[in-house]
Amino acid sequence: MALNHHLQHALKMVISISVMCLVLNNDMNLARAELETLVHHPDSSALLLSFLVVGDWGRKGTHNQSQVAFQMGRIGETLDLDFIISTGDNFYDKGLTSEYDPAFEDSFTNIYTASSLQKPWYTVLGNHDYRGDALAQSSSFLKQKDSRWVCLKSFILNTDVAEIFFIDTTPFQDKYFTDPEDQVYDWRGVMPRKKYLANLLKDLDMALKESTAKWKIVVGHHPIKSDGHHGNTQELVVQLLPILQANNVDFYINGHDHCLEHISSRDSPLQFFTSGGGSKAWRGDMSWMNLDETKFYYDGQGFMSMQITENEVQVIFYDVSGSALHKWSTSKWLYSTI
Ligand SMILES: *[C@@H]1O[C@H](CO)[C@@H](O)[C@H](O)[C@H]1NC(C)=O
Repeated sequence: MALNHHLQHALKMVISISVMCLVLNNDMNLARAELETLVHHPDSSALLLSFLVVGDWGRKGTHNQSQVAFQMGRIGETLDLDFIISTGDNFYDKGLTSEYDPAFEDSFTNIYTASSLQKPWYTVLGNHDYRGDALAQSSSFLKQKDSRWVCLKSFILNTDVAEIFFIDTTPFQDKYFTDPEDQVYDWRGVMPRKKYLANLLKDLDMALKESTAKWKIVVGHHPIKSDGHHGNTQELVVQLLPILQANNVDFYINGHDHCLEHISSRDSPLQFFTSGGGSKAWRGDMSWMNLDETKFYYDGQGFMSMQITENEVQVIFYDVSGSALHKWSTSKWLYSTI
Protein backbone atom coordinates (compact mmCIF):
# COMPACT_ATOMS: atom_id res chain seq x y z
CA MET A 1 0.00 0.00 0.00
CA ALA A 2 2.74 2.41 1.09
CA LEU A 3 4.85 1.54 -1.93
CA ASN A 4 1.93 2.15 -4.21
CA HIS A 5 1.44 5.54 -2.63
CA HIS A 6 5.11 6.41 -3.13
CA LEU A 7 4.94 5.29 -6.74
CA GLN A 8 1.94 7.51 -7.36
CA HIS A 9 3.74 10.42 -5.75
CA ALA A 10 6.85 9.83 -7.86
CA LEU A 11 4.78 9.63 -11.01
CA LYS A 12 3.07 12.93 -10.19
CA MET A 13 6.50 14.53 -9.69
CA VAL A 14 7.72 13.27 -13.06
CA ILE A 15 4.62 14.57 -14.80
CA SER A 16 4.81 18.01 -13.21
CA ILE A 17 8.53 18.31 -13.99
CA SER A 18 7.84 17.40 -17.62
CA VAL A 19 5.11 20.02 -17.83
CA MET A 20 7.45 22.60 -16.32
CA CYS A 21 10.09 21.75 -18.90
CA LEU A 22 7.60 22.14 -21.72
CA VAL A 23 6.54 25.54 -20.42
CA LEU A 24 10.15 26.65 -19.96
CA ASN A 25 11.05 25.43 -23.42
CA ASN A 26 8.24 27.42 -24.98
CA ASP A 27 9.23 30.54 -23.11
CA MET A 28 12.83 30.14 -24.15
CA ASN A 29 11.89 29.75 -27.80
CA LEU A 30 9.85 32.92 -27.63
CA ALA A 31 12.63 34.87 -25.97
CA ARG A 32 15.41 33.60 -28.21
CA ALA A 33 14.45 34.56 -31.73
CA GLU A 34 11.41 36.19 -33.22
CA LEU A 35 12.40 35.17 -36.73
CA GLU A 36 10.56 32.06 -37.81
CA THR A 37 12.81 29.47 -39.42
CA LEU A 38 11.58 27.37 -42.34
CA VAL A 39 13.54 24.40 -43.61
CA HIS A 40 13.88 23.49 -47.28
CA HIS A 41 16.09 20.49 -48.05
CA PRO A 42 17.17 20.52 -51.70
CA ASP A 43 15.27 17.99 -53.85
CA SER A 44 18.24 16.46 -55.52
CA SER A 45 20.82 14.39 -53.72
CA ALA A 46 23.34 16.28 -55.88
CA LEU A 47 23.73 18.88 -53.13
CA LEU A 48 23.00 21.62 -55.61
CA LEU A 49 20.58 24.34 -54.59
CA SER A 50 18.90 26.06 -57.48
CA PHE A 51 16.43 28.94 -57.50
CA LEU A 52 15.16 31.93 -59.46
CA VAL A 53 14.70 35.47 -58.15
CA VAL A 54 12.06 37.84 -59.53
CA GLY A 55 10.77 41.14 -58.16
CA ASP A 56 8.26 43.94 -58.79
CA TRP A 57 5.92 41.82 -60.86
CA GLY A 58 2.16 41.72 -60.07
CA ARG A 59 0.46 43.48 -62.99
CA LYS A 60 -2.04 40.86 -64.17
CA GLY A 61 0.32 39.82 -66.96
CA THR A 62 0.73 43.28 -68.48
CA HIS A 63 4.04 45.11 -69.09
CA ASN A 64 5.56 41.80 -70.21
CA GLN A 65 4.94 40.11 -66.85
CA SER A 66 3.61 37.09 -68.75
CA GLN A 67 6.63 37.01 -71.08
CA VAL A 68 9.04 37.11 -68.13
CA ALA A 69 6.97 34.37 -66.44
CA PHE A 70 7.16 32.21 -69.57
CA GLN A 71 10.95 32.51 -69.73
CA MET A 72 11.26 31.79 -66.00
CA GLY A 73 9.37 28.57 -66.68
CA ARG A 74 11.62 27.67 -69.60
CA ILE A 75 14.90 28.45 -67.81
CA GLY A 76 13.53 26.87 -64.62
CA GLU A 77 13.09 23.59 -66.45
CA THR A 78 16.80 23.44 -67.31
CA LEU A 79 17.84 24.25 -63.72
CA ASP A 80 15.67 21.80 -61.76
CA LEU A 81 14.52 24.50 -59.35
CA ASP A 82 14.15 24.05 -55.62
CA PHE A 83 12.12 27.23 -55.20
CA ILE A 84 11.54 30.79 -56.38
CA ILE A 85 12.28 33.96 -54.40
CA SER A 86 10.20 37.11 -54.81
CA THR A 87 11.86 40.35 -53.71
CA GLY A 88 8.48 42.07 -53.19
CA ASP A 89 6.08 44.50 -54.81
CA ASN A 90 4.05 41.40 -55.46
CA PHE A 91 0.81 43.17 -56.34
CA TYR A 92 0.48 46.58 -58.02
CA ASP A 93 -0.52 49.22 -57.45
CA LYS A 94 -1.65 48.88 -53.86
CA GLY A 95 -0.97 45.31 -52.72
CA LEU A 96 -3.99 43.11 -52.06
CA THR A 97 -7.24 44.63 -50.80
CA SER A 98 -7.83 41.50 -48.70
CA GLU A 99 -7.13 37.77 -48.78
CA TYR A 100 -10.12 37.49 -51.16
CA ASP A 101 -8.66 39.92 -53.72
CA PRO A 102 -8.72 38.15 -57.14
CA ALA A 103 -5.45 39.95 -57.99
CA PHE A 104 -3.79 37.02 -56.23
CA GLU A 105 -4.92 34.66 -58.99
CA ASP A 106 -4.73 37.26 -61.79
CA SER A 107 -1.15 38.30 -61.00
CA PHE A 108 0.28 35.13 -59.48
CA THR A 109 -1.52 31.78 -59.85
CA ASN A 110 -2.65 32.31 -63.45
CA ILE A 111 0.64 33.87 -64.60
CA TYR A 112 3.40 31.59 -63.25
CA THR A 113 1.83 28.43 -64.66
CA ALA A 114 4.89 26.55 -65.98
CA SER A 115 5.45 23.18 -64.37
CA SER A 116 8.99 24.12 -63.31
CA LEU A 117 7.55 27.01 -61.28
CA GLN A 118 5.23 24.75 -59.24
CA LYS A 119 7.61 25.04 -56.29
CA PRO A 120 7.48 27.11 -53.10
CA TRP A 121 7.62 30.87 -53.64
CA TYR A 122 9.41 32.52 -50.73
CA THR A 123 8.24 36.08 -50.70
CA VAL A 124 8.76 39.36 -48.87
CA LEU A 125 6.64 42.52 -49.01
CA GLY A 126 7.51 45.65 -50.97
CA ASN A 127 6.38 49.22 -50.35
CA HIS A 128 3.47 48.78 -52.79
CA ASP A 129 2.29 45.71 -50.85
CA TYR A 130 2.13 47.91 -47.74
CA ARG A 131 -0.32 50.23 -49.54
CA GLY A 132 -2.97 47.53 -49.35
CA ASP A 133 -3.82 44.98 -46.67
CA ALA A 134 -0.24 44.00 -45.81
CA LEU A 135 -1.33 41.24 -43.45
CA ALA A 136 -3.47 39.57 -46.14
CA GLN A 137 -0.37 38.34 -47.97
CA SER A 138 0.62 36.26 -44.95
CA SER A 139 -2.88 34.81 -44.58
CA SER A 140 -3.16 31.02 -44.59
CA PHE A 141 -6.13 31.44 -46.94
CA LEU A 142 -3.73 32.38 -49.77
CA LYS A 143 -1.82 29.16 -49.14
CA GLN A 144 -5.11 27.27 -49.46
CA LYS A 145 -5.75 28.99 -52.80
CA ASP A 146 -2.20 28.31 -54.05
CA SER A 147 0.01 26.06 -51.95
CA ARG A 148 3.20 27.57 -53.44
CA TRP A 149 2.73 30.89 -51.62
CA VAL A 150 4.96 31.52 -48.58
CA CYS A 151 4.96 35.15 -47.44
CA LEU A 152 6.10 36.35 -44.04
CA LYS A 153 7.36 39.81 -43.12
CA SER A 154 10.76 38.49 -42.00
CA PHE A 155 11.92 34.89 -41.75
CA ILE A 156 14.83 32.51 -42.21
CA LEU A 157 15.06 29.76 -44.81
CA ASN A 158 17.50 26.99 -43.98
CA THR A 159 18.51 24.98 -47.06
CA ASP A 160 21.50 23.01 -45.73
CA VAL A 161 24.11 24.54 -48.05
CA ALA A 162 22.87 28.11 -47.64
CA GLU A 163 20.88 30.05 -45.11
CA ILE A 164 18.64 32.78 -46.49
CA PHE A 165 17.45 35.62 -44.26
CA PHE A 166 14.36 37.47 -45.52
CA ILE A 167 14.06 40.99 -44.09
CA ASP A 168 11.11 43.39 -44.10
CA THR A 169 12.82 46.54 -45.44
CA THR A 170 9.85 48.86 -46.12
CA PRO A 171 9.56 50.07 -42.49
CA PHE A 172 13.19 51.27 -42.63
CA GLN A 173 12.43 54.02 -45.15
CA ASP A 174 11.82 57.29 -43.32
CA LYS A 175 9.93 58.97 -46.13
CA TYR A 176 7.00 56.51 -45.98
CA PHE A 177 6.41 57.81 -42.45
CA THR A 178 7.47 61.45 -42.67
CA ASP A 179 6.27 62.23 -46.20
CA PRO A 180 3.80 59.54 -47.38
CA GLU A 181 2.29 61.99 -49.92
CA ASP A 182 -1.20 60.67 -50.74
CA GLN A 183 -0.35 57.04 -49.90
CA VAL A 184 -1.73 55.19 -46.91
CA TYR A 185 0.48 52.40 -45.53
CA ASP A 186 -0.75 49.47 -43.49
CA TRP A 187 1.61 49.63 -40.52
CA ARG A 188 -0.23 47.09 -38.38
CA GLY A 189 2.36 45.04 -36.52
CA VAL A 190 5.10 47.58 -37.31
CA MET A 191 4.30 50.19 -34.64
CA PRO A 192 6.01 51.34 -32.54
CA ARG A 193 8.43 51.59 -35.44
CA LYS A 194 11.67 52.14 -33.51
CA LYS A 195 11.11 49.02 -31.45
CA TYR A 196 10.13 46.97 -34.53
CA LEU A 197 13.31 47.93 -36.40
CA ALA A 198 15.57 47.48 -33.37
CA ASN A 199 14.16 44.00 -32.70
CA LEU A 200 14.46 43.01 -36.34
CA LEU A 201 18.11 44.09 -36.55
CA LYS A 202 18.92 42.39 -33.25
CA ASP A 203 17.22 39.14 -34.34
CA LEU A 204 19.00 39.21 -37.70
CA ASP A 205 22.36 39.84 -36.08
CA MET A 206 21.81 37.01 -33.59
CA ALA A 207 20.62 34.58 -36.27
CA LEU A 208 23.57 35.41 -38.53
CA LYS A 209 26.01 34.88 -35.65
CA GLU A 210 24.44 31.48 -34.90
CA SER A 211 24.39 30.39 -38.54
CA THR A 212 26.81 27.66 -39.54
CA ALA A 213 25.78 27.72 -43.21
CA LYS A 214 28.54 27.92 -45.80
CA TRP A 215 26.69 30.66 -47.71
CA LYS A 216 24.73 33.44 -46.03
CA ILE A 217 22.26 35.37 -48.13
CA VAL A 218 20.03 38.27 -47.08
CA VAL A 219 16.95 39.19 -49.12
CA GLY A 220 14.93 42.41 -48.85
CA HIS A 221 12.77 44.56 -51.12
CA HIS A 222 14.83 47.75 -51.00
CA PRO A 223 18.38 47.92 -52.33
CA ILE A 224 21.33 48.76 -50.14
CA LYS A 225 23.26 49.79 -53.25
CA SER A 226 21.63 50.53 -56.58
CA ASP A 227 22.37 52.49 -59.73
CA GLY A 228 18.68 52.60 -60.58
CA HIS A 229 16.05 55.30 -60.14
CA HIS A 230 15.90 55.01 -56.32
CA GLY A 231 19.64 54.64 -55.84
CA ASN A 232 21.14 53.55 -52.54
CA THR A 233 18.81 53.29 -49.55
CA GLN A 234 20.59 55.43 -46.98
CA GLU A 235 18.69 53.96 -43.99
CA LEU A 236 19.86 50.46 -44.97
CA VAL A 237 23.42 51.61 -45.69
CA VAL A 238 23.58 52.96 -42.14
CA GLN A 239 21.57 50.34 -40.21
CA LEU A 240 21.67 47.04 -42.15
CA LEU A 241 24.94 47.02 -44.09
CA PRO A 242 27.22 47.00 -41.00
CA ILE A 243 25.43 43.87 -39.70
CA LEU A 244 25.89 42.09 -43.05
CA GLN A 245 29.57 43.01 -43.14
CA ALA A 246 30.21 42.04 -39.51
CA ASN A 247 28.69 38.59 -40.10
CA ASN A 248 30.36 37.80 -43.44
CA VAL A 249 27.16 37.73 -45.45
CA ASP A 250 27.95 36.70 -49.03
CA PHE A 251 25.05 38.23 -50.98
CA TYR A 252 22.32 40.82 -50.54
CA ILE A 253 19.43 40.40 -52.99
CA ASN A 254 16.66 42.97 -53.57
CA GLY A 255 14.13 44.48 -55.97
CA HIS A 256 12.50 47.96 -55.84
CA ASP A 257 14.46 49.42 -58.74
CA HIS A 258 12.89 47.98 -61.88
CA CYS A 259 16.07 46.70 -63.41
CA LEU A 260 18.76 44.02 -63.09
CA GLU A 261 22.05 44.86 -61.37
CA HIS A 262 25.18 43.35 -59.94
CA ILE A 263 27.23 45.62 -57.71
CA SER A 264 30.33 44.47 -55.84
CA SER A 265 32.06 45.87 -52.75
CA ARG A 266 35.46 47.51 -52.80
CA ASP A 267 36.18 46.55 -49.19
CA SER A 268 34.61 43.08 -48.76
CA PRO A 269 33.41 40.00 -50.72
CA LEU A 270 29.74 41.07 -50.24
CA GLN A 271 27.88 41.24 -53.58
CA PHE A 272 24.63 43.13 -54.25
CA PHE A 273 22.08 41.78 -56.74
CA THR A 274 18.96 43.64 -57.86
CA SER A 275 16.23 41.56 -59.51
CA GLY A 276 13.33 43.96 -59.95
CA GLY A 277 12.47 43.37 -63.60
CA GLY A 278 9.36 41.20 -63.20
CA SER A 279 7.10 43.49 -65.25
CA LYS A 280 7.28 47.25 -65.87
CA ALA A 281 10.89 48.35 -66.44
CA TRP A 282 12.30 51.85 -66.14
CA ARG A 283 14.37 52.35 -69.25
CA GLY A 284 17.10 54.95 -68.98
CA ASP A 285 16.14 55.98 -65.44
CA MET A 286 19.43 55.70 -63.54
CA SER A 287 21.35 57.28 -60.69
CA TRP A 288 24.80 55.70 -61.31
CA MET A 289 25.61 55.99 -57.62
CA ASN A 290 28.10 53.10 -57.48
CA LEU A 291 29.82 53.37 -60.82
CA ASP A 292 33.20 51.99 -59.76
CA GLU A 293 31.65 48.93 -58.06
CA THR A 294 29.09 48.09 -60.75
CA LYS A 295 29.67 44.87 -62.66
CA PHE A 296 26.37 44.78 -64.55
CA TYR A 297 23.36 47.04 -65.12
CA TYR A 298 20.38 46.36 -67.37
CA ASP A 299 17.36 48.66 -67.44
CA GLY A 300 14.93 46.18 -69.00
CA GLN A 301 12.75 43.30 -67.81
CA GLY A 302 14.06 39.96 -66.64
CA PHE A 303 15.04 37.80 -63.69
CA MET A 304 18.00 36.06 -62.05
CA SER A 305 19.05 32.50 -61.27
CA MET A 306 21.33 31.31 -58.51
CA GLN A 307 22.91 27.87 -58.22
CA ILE A 308 24.75 27.00 -55.05
CA THR A 309 26.95 24.08 -54.07
CA GLU A 310 29.12 23.67 -50.99
CA ASN A 311 31.99 25.50 -52.68
CA GLU A 312 30.63 27.41 -55.63
CA VAL A 313 27.92 29.86 -56.61
CA GLN A 314 26.81 30.84 -60.08
CA VAL A 315 24.53 33.78 -60.81
CA ILE A 316 22.94 34.46 -64.20
CA PHE A 317 20.70 37.36 -65.24
CA TYR A 318 18.19 36.81 -68.08
CA ASP A 319 16.18 39.26 -70.16
CA VAL A 320 12.53 39.09 -71.28
CA SER A 321 13.42 36.66 -74.07
CA GLY A 322 15.38 34.38 -71.73
CA SER A 323 18.80 35.34 -73.07
CA ALA A 324 21.61 35.26 -70.51
CA LEU A 325 22.91 38.83 -70.09
CA HIS A 326 25.44 38.46 -67.30
CA LYS A 327 27.09 35.43 -65.72
CA TRP A 328 29.15 35.59 -62.56
CA SER A 329 30.52 32.95 -60.28
CA THR A 330 32.56 32.69 -57.13
CA SER A 331 34.00 29.93 -55.00
CA LYS A 332 35.18 29.30 -51.47
CA TRP A 333 37.74 26.62 -52.30
CA LEU A 334 40.51 29.13 -51.84
CA TYR A 335 39.42 30.38 -48.44
CA SER A 336 38.93 26.90 -47.02
CA THR A 337 42.16 25.30 -48.23
CA ILE A 338 44.61 28.04 -47.33
C1 LIG B 1 8.05 43.60 -74.05
O1 LIG B 1 9.24 43.00 -74.53
C2 LIG B 1 9.52 43.27 -75.89
C3 LIG B 1 10.74 42.50 -76.26
O2 LIG B 1 10.48 41.14 -76.31
C4 LIG B 1 9.68 44.76 -76.12
O3 LIG B 1 9.88 45.03 -77.48
C5 LIG B 1 8.45 45.50 -75.60
O4 LIG B 1 8.66 46.88 -75.68
C6 LIG B 1 8.12 45.11 -74.18
N1 LIG B 1 6.85 45.69 -73.79
C7 LIG B 1 6.68 46.38 -72.66
C8 LIG B 1 5.30 46.87 -72.41
O5 LIG B 1 7.57 46.60 -71.87
